[in-house]
Amino acid sequence: MFDNIDLKGKTKEEKYQLLIPQIEALIEGEDDSISNMANISAILKQAFDFLWVGFYIVKNDILVLGPFQGSVACTRIQKGKGVCGTAWDRKETIIVEDVNNFSGHIACSSLSKSEIVVPLFDKNDNVIAVLDVDSEKLGLFDKVDAVFLEKISKLFIY
Ligand code: SME
Repeated sequence: MFDNIDLKGKTKEEKYQLLIPQIEALIEGEDDSISNMANISAILKQAFDFLWVGFYIVKNDILVLGPFQGSVACTRIQKGKGVCGTAWDRKETIIVEDVNNFSGHIACSSLSKSEIVVPLFDKNDNVIAVLDVDSEKLGLFDKVDAVFLEKISKLFIY
């Protein structure tokens, strides 16, 4: 389905611009958030070859590992802990240029060097999950990733 989009030679911004309408179309026809998280993880991993892409879902006041693409990850993260728990607590996107400089960073993979975490909200502005993307490159994520990943996260407001 997404294999017919030619992303070769495109900038990061161009890639997101091509992918977002496809993601929107996919989500429009499916109201199961787990299925949508699974497909979004696959699309982002395939398009950008990120080290790890996945969701942690708020369940009983803790983040629990949800659909992801990449290697085995820790399953539970407390509010305020790690980059994911901090993004949940602050209700804002966090970009980490160098995970070694983020106090409390939870290292699921020693290969991960930089990271972005974007919260997903429900219609009452409660955080329902976070989208976590990791890279083996330092400083890979910037405002462009934040803007487009936040657009994706807003597709989950039911
Ligand atoms: N690094 C994250 C933990 C999740 S893994 O990267 C998949 C954190 O500090 O919250």
